[in-house]
Amino acid sequence: MRADVFFGPVTLPPSEWQGRVVVVIDVLRASTTIVTALAHGARAVIPFESAEEAVTRFRSFERSEVLLAGERKAARISGFDLGNSPAEFTPEVVEGKTILLTTSNGTVALAAVQGAREVLVGAFVNLAATVAAVRSHLRAGADVAVVCAGSERQFALEDAVCAGRLLRLLARRLAGAQWNDAARAVVTLERKHGRDVAACLAGTVHGRALAEAGFAADIARCAELDTQVVVPVYHDRQVTARGARRR
Ligand code: MLT
Repeated sequence: MRADVFFGPVTLPPSEWQGRVVVVIDVLRASTTIVTALAHGARAVIPFESAEEAVTRFRSFERSEVLLAGERKAARISGFDLGNSPAEFTPEVVEGKTILLTTSNGTVALAAVQGAREVLVGAFVNLAATVAAVRSHLRAGADVAVVCAGSERQFALEDAVCAGRLLRLLARRLAGAQWNDAARAVVTLERKHGRDVAACLAGTVHGRALAEAGFAADIARCAELDTQVVVPVYHDRQVTARGARRR
């Protein structure tokens, strides 16, 4: 059994992902936003690497069925319905809708994982539910890989700390596994920085940039632990909810 962590959008051949349950984490903010949208009743979230691809796909939907969402440099893309702030994805706005989402790193990292046994979206807001979902795969003999999306193609501490917490909660089940160096490192980082998640997130490069851009409230929201029980599953190029929704 293997427990691996990767940083940034990783383009491994599908054969490398085979047999693994993969958790994609972009705490600030794409994975938190995806969990929130699905928990609030969105039908599906479809991730895109570019705004152009999202707009092209948008044209194939009835207007009433779909919302265009995404950011560049944290701000809503011009002409889009929504940005990437979890607070925007309220039940009133997203219920029953398909969300076409493009973000700087999170949706790119997600779209890069092809061929895994299952791809899940994890964040602090759904950590316990994600741990339970991974555990059931481990019981069936899967390997686990965590992809930390990062920020502007760089290592992001908030994703590493979330990955470290996830692996720590799975540690007993992974006791006999081979851990790569990054997996061992994130557990150490979580011990040092994971005690006060909100303070940790606020102090990261991306957290500071979000606060400067007027999104400080998002940081507190992204630091909430286990407020949602939904586990987003990426399958057939769309993300849908597993688990009960909660308002
Ligand atoms: C990303 O995908 O890089 C982030 O979600 C950016 C953001 O905070 O909007």
